[in-house]
Amino acid sequence: MIHRKGIILAGGSGTRLSPITNAISKQLVPIYDKPMIYYPLTTLMMVGIKEIMIITTKRDEKAFRTLFKNGNHLGISIKYAIQDNPDGIPQALLIAQEFIGDSPIVLVLGDNIFHGSNLIQSLKEANLDDENSTIFAYPVKDPERYGVVEFDGNYNVLNIEEKPKDPKTNYAVTGLYFYQNQVIKKIKNLKPSKRGELEITDLNQLLLSEHRLKIQLLGRGAAWLDTGTCDSLHEASSFIKIIEQRQGFKIGCPEEVSWRQKWISDQQLIKLSKSLLKSGYGEYLMQLIDSSNSKNKYLLGNTPNSIKS
Ligand code: TTP
Repeated sequence: MIHRKGIILAGGSGTRLSPITNAISKQLVPIYDKPMIYYPLTTLMMVGIKEIMIITTKRDEKAFRTLFKNGNHLGISIKYAIQDNPDGIPQALLIAQEFIGDSPIVLVLGDNIFHGSNLIQSLKEANLDDENSTIFAYPVKDPERYGVVEFDGNYNVLNIEEKPKDPKTNYAVTGLYFYQNQVIKKIKNLKPSKRGELEITDLNQLLLSEHRLKIQLLGRGAAWLDTGTCDSLHEASSFIKIIEQRQGFKIGCPEEVSWRQKWISDQQLIKLSKSLLKSGYGEYLMQLIDSSNSKNKYLLGNTPNSIKS
């Protein structure tokens, strides 16, 4: 099986967050206790993706390199590339073409947060599909801000419309796209839209018309948050804080995910935690090791769906 390559698109101008983003990347702004990009990064890692490219701006590349280096301490490989101008989401795949090679691709927007039970199972299904591309749609109150999926009463997809004035459903296309390698050729034939960008909706439309696109509907049990405005940023931070404090588990912690995937050892996790002890983040990592060694394995968070006497 050819391994799917992961791409995190972390460029853009973040103008809706200025002045916060006047000097730093939006995707490095904190969502509660960690930088925003940790969340989409761990989403990819939970699916099993180990080769990842972060695409960012010339200004911000150094900061991302400082944060993640080559990724080896997280048991993964991280490469970097620059998008000179935010000329559209599909452009990422052209920039990453050499990195992608012959592999299938998963592209995630650096400001998208996914969380929920059974979610990773759906993503793993998309990862294993070697015929179709898969995108995900999620019900939102303000679909007119997104690409919107139109379907009939039998859930047959009819259309995807970019930012429609009069949305036919409230299902927005999320910023997570599993593509087959052939899409690269198709992107080369896309024409920029009126706003001068290559549009991901145009690519998805094309795949839809060729019957090569699956759209998975994410249910109410899943959370999809995008964090592009001050309000959504604040709400995402509150959401993460509430769940983390209630359960005692962190959301979007790449060190933990890597350790659970057995990509790094206990010793490596201890080493990582030592440099982070003051913030409590390190203590959390340390406590994962402690609970894995204790008799109370349920503290660990890998619980099955049902248990019996
Ligand atoms: P947007 O939120 O559409 O754009 P932005 O981040 O530039 O923000 P603003 O609208 O406030 O100016 O982008 C969604 C995500 O995709 C975000 O993570 C940035 C990324 N992106 C790129 O990296 N390059 C691009 O060409 C585009 C269109 C988006």
